[in-house]
Amino acid sequence: MIRIDVLTLFPEMFQSPLSHSILKRAQDSGIVSIVLTNIRDFATDAYKKVDDKPYGGGPGMVMMPGPVFDCFEHVEKLSPEKGRVILLTPQGQKFDQAKAADLSKEKRLILISGRYEGFDERIRIGLDAEQISIGDYVLSGGELAAMVIIDAVVRLLAGALGDQDSPKDDTFSEGLLEYPQYTRPEVFRGMKVPDVLLSGDHAKIDRWRRQQALERTKKQRPDLLKNPEPRKTACL
Ligand code: 6GU
Repeated sequence: MIRIDVLTLFPEMFQSPLSHSILKRAQDSGIVSIVLTNIRDFATDAYKKVDDKPYGGGPGMVMMPGPVFDCFEHVEKLSPEKGRVILLTPQGQKFDQAKAADLSKEKRLILISGRYEGFDERIRIGLDAEQISIGDYVLSGGELAAMVIIDAVVRLLAGALGDQDSPKDDTFSEGLLEYPQYTRPEVFRGMKVPDVLLSGDHAKIDRWRRQQALERTKKQRPDLLKNPEPRKTACL
């Protein structure tokens, strides 16, 4: 059982992704417990203010440290497990499948989603948080990034997917893109399923898939081939 706490100003944004498919099933079967806490509940003034103008001037607003610290200290006490504290920010290290596999080994994650132009720097320093970004583009807030991370992590947990072997063949799990897949019908709008997949020769099918994965990766993502060490991120 892994526990994932999320500190956010918009807990409602998480409801739909968490109540469907694998994330719903994983929670229902006790593989993961996901707890949302609203940072605004820890605002101290009558207006429930959680952001303010940046010192030194400049556009936008910055998340104030007070409500985030108070929210964090409340959440920390909800479980005895210490957990890994992660700040979602475009300034973070880029999230990838290896990071997802790494996080899936933890007993507890505490994800902090920001809004506005960013967090007061003392939040990162004071909470000794790691920073994660999901890619080189700017989102309006950390919520979607938190959901991406939750999804990628939870599907790697033992029992989260129907078929235990599934994550092993995933794109990226061996440092390559996934091979092409086909299902019925055998011919669709004139396009035929490759003969090798109908041959029943599993050694030959494995070789063909490996070859296809390699060719695809060369064409679509040559950057992945620069890393010669295959990354092992299969199911735990
Ligand atoms: Cl984690 N937050 C925001 N606001 N934008 C992002 C991101 C996170 N990752 C990529 N872009």
